[in-house]
Amino acid sequence: MSGRFITLEGGEGAGKSSNMEWLAEQLRAAGKTVLLTREPGGTPLAESIREVLLAPSDEEMADNTELLLVFAARAQHLAEKIRPALARGEWVLCDRFVDATWAYQGAGRGLDQDAIGALEELVVATSQPDMTILFDVPVDVGMARAGKRAALDRIEQEDRAFFDRIRECYLQRADQQPGRFRVLDAGQPLEQVRAQLEPLITEMLTWP
Ligand code: TMP
Repeated sequence: MSGRFITLEGGEGAGKSSNMEWLAEQLRAAGKTVLLTREPGGTPLAESIREVLLAPSDEEMADNTELLLVFAARAQHLAEKIRPALARGEWVLCDRFVDATWAYQGAGRGLDQDAIGALEELVVATSQPDMTILFDVPVDVGMARAGKRAALDRIEQEDRAFFDRIRECYLQRADQQPGRFRVLDAGQPLEQVRAQLEPLITEMLTWP
């Protein structure tokens, strides 16, 4: 038995989280068993790593520390939660996954692509998503939305150019991997974003 793995990606304030629950409801209504989870995090240990990653601190985090922590959290999440759920035949909806590392640590921080590729090979291996939904939103719009929520976390405090590189990287990856990626215009109001999600749900439900 093998389930389905769907990831949601996008910059800050793209509306992934608000739409994930709704997407899960649609899939449950169609009879699927759905597991909602997120990265970094998803298990108690991985959530502890998330806290370390996102907490603002007086000690500057080295870029490689950040990279290794996101992959450490992911290794735990895959072993404890994602792979077992897929093996039970469940549908896993995950708020961010390895594309976020390519975007944030790769394009945002400018870290070595070979290093990211090697860690992806080690940690993710063949556990790649069946579909990745990219909630694309202009950086200004996303940052304004994120700014209205709680205090900005360590990564959200980066400058505008960092988030420009992230958006560009996501769009480029979507272009390069059209089989897996679906891109939504997430700058639109919620109802219109949902209207864009509907054909994707139809598509998922016709998977063999
Ligand atoms: P969230 O705000 O969508 O919950 O994501 C938490 C933050 O973690 C967000 O700023 C993006 C960042 N992140 C990375 O930098 N690399 C990663 O691999 C993942 C999964 C998230």
